Amino acid sequence: MAVTLTVNGKTQQVDADPETPLLYVLRDDLELNGAKYGCGVGQCGACTVMVDNEAVLSCVTPVLLLEGRRISTVEGLGTMEKPGPMQQAFIEQQAAQCGFCIPGMMMRAQALLQANPTVDEAAVRAHLEPNLCRCGTYMRIVKAVMRAGELMHQSSQ
Ligand code: FES
Repeated sequence: MAVTLTVNGKTQQVDADPETPLLYVLRDDLELNGAKYGCGVGQCGACTVMVDNEAVLSCVTPVLLLEGRRISTVEGLGTMEKPGPMQQAFIEQQAAQCGFCIPGMMMRAQALLQANPTVDEAAVRAHLEPNLCRCGTYMRIVKAVMRAGELMHQSSQ
């Protein structure tokens, strides 16, 4: 069945079973490999993307629910040449170790900071709780998100 999805501002049709999890369509059909397959059952956060302004686990979200919604993935946050504030902050803080969890961390953090870039550290920690990092670089990830908030706040002034 043809499903129409808007991903990072681009609307396109894909041929998919409506029950197919968004993660598979992103990776297999749209060649957007930023969102990762970790557990596949909504337990790790590696597959997190944004739908409208909410963080969503794409491994357990069927594409049929997403027509007419705005899907954002890590690829939409910036480019190699021009990283967005979230990417810039993660690079500055050297927050990645293996890097597998980072796209999901960034997208969950983006949902938080878009709503309020000046949140405190406790709010960042609480918001990121569903996302796991097997390398344990949580301290740096939290610092990176705080820094991203500063950059986003500055650019909104
Ligand atoms: Fe989706 Fe783990 S891959 S939550």
